[in-house]
Amino acid sequence: MKTLMEMLNGCFAAAFEKAGYDAKYGKCNVSNRPDLCEFQCNGAMASAKAYKKPPIAIANEVVAALENDGTFDKVEAVMPGFINITLSNKMLDKYLLEMNTADNLGYEPKNAGKTLIVDYGGANVAKPLHVGHLRPAIIGESVKRMLAFDGYKAIGDVHLGDWGLPMGLIITECSKRYPDLVYFDENYEGEYPSEAPFAISDLEEIYPYACAYSKEHPEYKEEARIATAQLQAGRRGYRALWKHILNVSKADLKKNYDNLNVHFELWNGESDVDSLIAPMVEKMKADGVAKLSEGAVVVDVKEETDNKEMPPCILVKSDGAAIYASTDLATLVEREQDYKPDFIVYVVDKRQSLHFEQVFRTARKAGIIRPETRLHHIGNGTMNGPDGTPFKTRDGGVMRLEYLIRDIAAKVSEKMADRELSAEERENISKIVGLAALKYGDLSNAATKDYIFDVDKFTAFEGNTGPYILYTMVRIKSILDKYASVSGSTIADIRAAAEKADFAADYSSADAVDSEKKLKLAIAAFADNISNAADELAPHKICSYIFDLSNLFNSFYHENKIIAEEDKAKQKHWISLICLTLKCLETCTDMLAISAPERM
Ligand code: ARG
Repeated sequence: MKTLMEMLNGCFAAAFEKAGYDAKYGKCNVSNRPDLCEFQCNGAMASAKAYKKPPIAIANEVVAALENDGTFDKVEAVMPGFINITLSNKMLDKYLLEMNTADNLGYEPKNAGKTLIVDYGGANVAKPLHVGHLRPAIIGESVKRMLAFDGYKAIGDVHLGDWGLPMGLIITECSKRYPDLVYFDENYEGEYPSEAPFAISDLEEIYPYACAYSKEHPEYKEEARIATAQLQAGRRGYRALWKHILNVSKADLKKNYDNLNVHFELWNGESDVDSLIAPMVEKMKADGVAKLSEGAVVVDVKEETDNKEMPPCILVKSDGAAIYASTDLATLVEREQDYKPDFIVYVVDKRQSLHFEQVFRTARKAGIIRPETRLHHIGNGTMNGPDGTPFKTRDGGVMRLEYLIRDIAAKVSEKMADRELSAEERENISKIVGLAALKYGDLSNAATKDYIFDVDKFTAFEGNTGPYILYTMVRIKSILDKYASVSGSTIADIRAAAEKADFAADYSSADAVDSEKKLKLAIAAFADNISNAADELAPHKICSYIFDLSNLFNSFYHENKIIAEEDKAKQKHWISLICLTLKCLETCTDMLAISAPERM
């Protein structure tokens, strides 16, 4: 079905044409003067110059030419040439009825049949997830879900950092601590143990220790560098030990991402494309795309129009080691082979934007991806503490994500101290609401902006917060619950019936109060808002949409006594309306990967 805007644009394009003007002027917008009208068409203003006529004259002709089959309550040309538009209740009810019975609330996906890859984890093996990983994970999951809703076959890839010097450092440190392990015996030819010689807690201590130690001791660092090279060259014992590092670490990362409700379709890492790097570089050299420069292999990516520094993309360093850019390029080679993606989105800290610019240009220059494949880097801003610098623990360290999640849940639990809930229920609800507070607090800010993490603000039950949205959803469920118990039914049955309800027939809402119409208009705007958010890869637009929708629902709720309503047809109509509101909110929160509790 058409979006509300498409429908309005269609009506006005036809009217412009009928009045003898170009149809392209028939574009409508949501009114910025809601006190005067709901929508506006400013095409007469825009076309006045081309037709050398006063805009009001054109506007009058268009209004006269407009076919009104009951769609509009009022269409007025006003000075100097705006057209003010108010929809009829009847039309709105018909539109909502269609949305209600259609799949996906009538949303027509724009990218069916296309493949998308979202590269958004970027966690590094053997390091615990910390707050720096929060934004890419949360934003990436949401972008993936939004675009899947818009039709893409969407594949998320965690793209683990599992290959470089950190691995050599861990191997070196293990060789010091446990020199007798069979992995270090070069003459060993048997099977390696299947049990890892360390737990995640050991790894989390070993890595930072080795990292700090190597900074003070160049000979240790050199050892680690050699271990890295030997690992990459295929030394058996090192490969076996590294597999353990990978498995232990992946299991822990999975658990942490699961807790965030972030799920990857692919758990690939930088190591997976190692064997593709050498042939890729050779081909780029043979094609004249890459060249030798001071012992390194590089690709010039400067373009004439650049107004910023654009250093060459380094593929291989002078010591022969492949680096970050080459793993990203080889990953593109692999993705092209395996998935032929139409679109690849990277959600990675904005401080890496130069890297991605270099990688994208190199990929195009070398023909690694097809010319029509879109590549896009969403450079996320940081989550900052109250001092405006990246969020830290009280003692200045990097905050582990699991502790942050735990602290927020505790805060929510505190706020719900007055609720009549069992301890267990309170804990479960606090977890769900706390996570929503964190995610919504993040997602409601434009991805590229930095924001300040403010636990009191994020966990507030009023205002533009996750808990407020969830509270609204829970409120609707509780009304439905009351309605169900009066009629001896269940919420599920009520909702199922509402999906089939003939929204428009059983009650004429011609006299609908303002709050009812406003709520309906907001629901009808679902598709336009989602489409726009998906086009702009902007979860924050979904947040602002559901914040508006929640506000309008709450005004409607406060103005109308749904359960006490005596006109049964009207009451049924309202029940269908709030079921549809709930469905919109559920669909949107699902795109944000936010879950709602049954009560709170
Ligand atoms: N592991 C990298 C880091 O910690 C982030 C990886 C981002 N994704 C990518 N395809 N480069 O900086």
